[in-house]
Amino acid sequence: MKCCVVGLQWGDEGKGKVVDILAEDCDIVVRYGGGANAGHTVVIGDARFALHLLPSGAVREGITCVIANAVVVDPEVLIQEIDGLAGRGIDLTGRLLVSENAHVVLDYHKKEDQLRETSLGDNKIGTTIRGIGPCYADKVGRSYAVRMGDLRDLNKLQGKLATILDYKNKVFGALYNAEPMSADALFEKCRVYAARLLPYVTDTTEFLHKAIAEGKSILFESAQGSLLDIDHGTFPFVTSSNSSLLGMPAGCGVSAKLLDRSIGVCKAYTTRVGAGPFPTELDNEIGQYIREKGHEYGTTTGRPRRCGWFDAVVASYSVTINSVDEIAMMHLDTLTGLKELKICKAYRLGDKLTTFFPANLDRLARAVPVYDSLPGWDQDITGATRFDQLPRQAQDYIRRIDQITGRAITIIGIGPRRTQTIFRRT
Ligand code: GDP
Ligand code: IMO
Ligand code: MG
Repeated sequence: MKCCVVGLQWGDEGKGKVVDILAEDCDIVVRYGGGANAGHTVVIGDARFALHLLPSGAVREGITCVIANAVVVDPEVLIQEIDGLAGRGIDLTGRLLVSENAHVVLDYHKKEDQLRETSLGDNKIGTTIRGIGPCYADKVGRSYAVRMGDLRDLNKLQGKLATILDYKNKVFGALYNAEPMSADALFEKCRVYAARLLPYVTDTTEFLHKAIAEGKSILFESAQGSLLDIDHGTFPFVTSSNSSLLGMPAGCGVSAKLLDRSIGVCKAYTTRVGAGPFPTELDNEIGQYIREKGHEYGTTTGRPRRCGWFDAVVASYSVTINSVDEIAMMHLDTLTGLKELKICKAYRLGDKLTTFFPANLDRLARAVPVYDSLPGWDQDITGATRFDQLPRQAQDYIRRIDQITGRAITIIGIGPRRTQTIFRRT
């Protein structure tokens, strides 16, 4: 079985939880894009893990973890994660593979991210300041790029870093009047990165194709959400990679034709961190209720997440561009206690109605959500084990979203723990 799990909204849908659950039946879990901007949470009993670069299968012994080509790897974060898990008794030795072609996020990328965001003031994107945009820009620009495989030849890397920092320091000085960064200090860090990480660095594309030929079961894990995709999201308020399922084939060198199953993850409502359009946003006490009840604060940055009603126009768009087979909906429990629930089923654009998400910002700015209203429920649902144990209103809410998106919700989250999950037969 080869399966891809992808976010259908603006990230933080609960991909970590879904991947952890599905990993039980898998041999390999692959992160195919993004970087340490991601924060994927796995909760096992009272233990909570927040993973930024490691695939969410890492917490299960015996799973091989792959960080594929299109991931931008911050070595500092990766080393911290490996050590952090080791400190909790989870050893990755021999079961972590990092692509030699994955690009490396270095200090000057994080500095550039921060300088640019600060200088933009109110016009900033609201990035995670993890150096993601600058690193992907250097990848596409090629001349100043550093890949994981470059850590193998430290002499060559030393010269390359001197050239890169000469250029970056001129730019940072001229544009932001910033202090220059030391190439020597960065090189010393790279020595440590090489010593710690080279044992994991390999050709992951070759590994994956051998595994496919051997009939291994592989789970591909996206980072971010489809609406943050650089080509298909709400540009420029997006991340710098193809965070939809469309990034999976390019990201790891495995055709999407080989997938047997694809699952889109969403929340029972919508959230977004950072700036950018959000048609169903609830900048009121209902949004605040969802934020507090759902603990909607960023896993990576701790920022409060913006909260709003479930936007089925957004979800249907993501279902369509990713062509997912089914939906996993998390956080149904968070809606408990709200008297009325709304689902956005279309946008009014002037005198026209559209059900196809206008990713173009000018059109999106004019979009007025058209809602269905459904009754809420009060009963605690966090202990339910079957769909038919949910209150009728909760079942109707799920069925209405099945109907609008045209895909069945087969996995339902009713709490953060592994066990708080309902598998629904449809
Ligand atoms: P990801 O980036 O998509 O992996 O999602 P995050 O981990 O950033 O955010 C999802 C948050 O919701 C985490 O704190 C999870 O522990 C939590 N979570 C996941 N599923 C559920 C659920 O069904 N109910 C509740 N209450 N919390 C959930
Ligand atoms: P996971 O994998 C939510 C958002 C940032 C910002 C925009 C650009 O946990 O779902 P970047 O640092 O990528 O240049 O920031 O993208 N963003 C996320 N929002 N979840 C994420 O990841 C995100 N990764 C980036 O908040 O708006
Ligand atoms: Mg997250």
